Amino acid sequence: SDPGLVARARAAKERLGDRVFVLGHHYQRDEVIQFADVTGDSFKLARDAAARPGAEYIVFCGVHFMAESADILTSDAQKVVLPDLAAGCSMADMASAEQVEECWDVLTDAGVADGVVPVSYMNSSADIKAFTGRHGGTICTSSNAERALDWAFGQGDKVLFLPDQHLGRNTAIRDLGMSPEDCVVYDPHRPNGGLTTQQLRDARMILWRGHCSVHGRFSLESVNEVRARIPGVRVLVHPECKHEVVAAADEVGSTEYIIKALEAAPAGSKWAVGTELNLVRRLADRFAPEGKEIVFLDRTVCFCSTMNRIDLPHLVWTLESLADGNELNQIRVDADTAHHAQVALERMLALP
Ligand code: 13P
Ligand code: SF4
Repeated sequence: SDPGLVARARAAKERLGDRVFVLGHHYQRDEVIQFADVTGDSFKLARDAAARPGAEYIVFCGVHFMAESADILTSDAQKVVLPDLAAGCSMADMASAEQVEECWDVLTDAGVADGVVPVSYMNSSADIKAFTGRHGGTICTSSNAERALDWAFGQGDKVLFLPDQHLGRNTAIRDLGMSPEDCVVYDPHRPNGGLTTQQLRDARMILWRGHCSVHGRFSLESVNEVRARIPGVRVLVHPECKHEVVAAADEVGSTEYIIKALEAAPAGSKWAVGTELNLVRRLADRFAPEGKEIVFLDRTVCFCSTMNRIDLPHLVWTLESLADGNELNQIRVDADTAHHAQVALERMLALP
């Protein structure tokens, strides 16, 4: 990265001292992650954001829904700043508050809403989290989805899983032992979600029709191709991948899980990893000296474009502005939404 910008970021961060705390998601660029005080997956960062009550500014190097969650979990005096307001998430955008309210009406009309517990993936807007809190549900991340579903099935007999159908399906089938027939997909763009009343009554998992535009692109062919190309390779993928990819993989887990699995891997082992490219490249470089060969699962899949919007120029601009007393790009969730979203987030943080 540009040495001039690196020096400026360092100087601005020093001027701010303990007033600023920089969080970096694992999918961030190298040029940005080097300035993170902590790195993590979305679950770890949600907890870390709350663990620095002294910092006036939380600079969130990640995407919009993560910054919203940080705002909800931190005190009113703390300001959460997103270095580029255009860093959204296409998956989170696949479920709007209006669509989810309409879905609840469909469930009510079908006579099933009373037994439905919403479980919403962290990758959702604050509005969706608030909906979840209002209807007795919990948030989950890719590292605690199984525990969240176990909890939810102790509360009701069906789960409405938002917005990532793949994480919902993979967790239900792989971790809870359900069959594919227990799952139906609710399509917000079709009348009644494209489902009959009978299908809604029979289903145990009602999956929202959303997906990650990065992980959703890994295919079964890429798994077969890498196994043919690299004998003995172990395939390690994120649970946002399609079920057929997850079913063909050797190991499945959140970004934190992936990192720990590679840390524990023996020298000489070979891995094909299906998650965001910035992280895979960093892991390949980090573990190459230990004799671990790490390749990207599918060379046709590229970076998460919105994660990549946070670049060093945006970080420098953000830190220098804050150090100069100019506040910018603050992410603020209104009090009512924040209250209900917090109820759902705290249910997650309290999961066993
Ligand atoms: P985790 O950080 O929970 O592994 O989620 C991956 C992701 O896609 C974040 O945007
Ligand atoms: Fe959203 Fe997928 Fe990018 Fe994560 S990797 S921010 S889920 S589009």
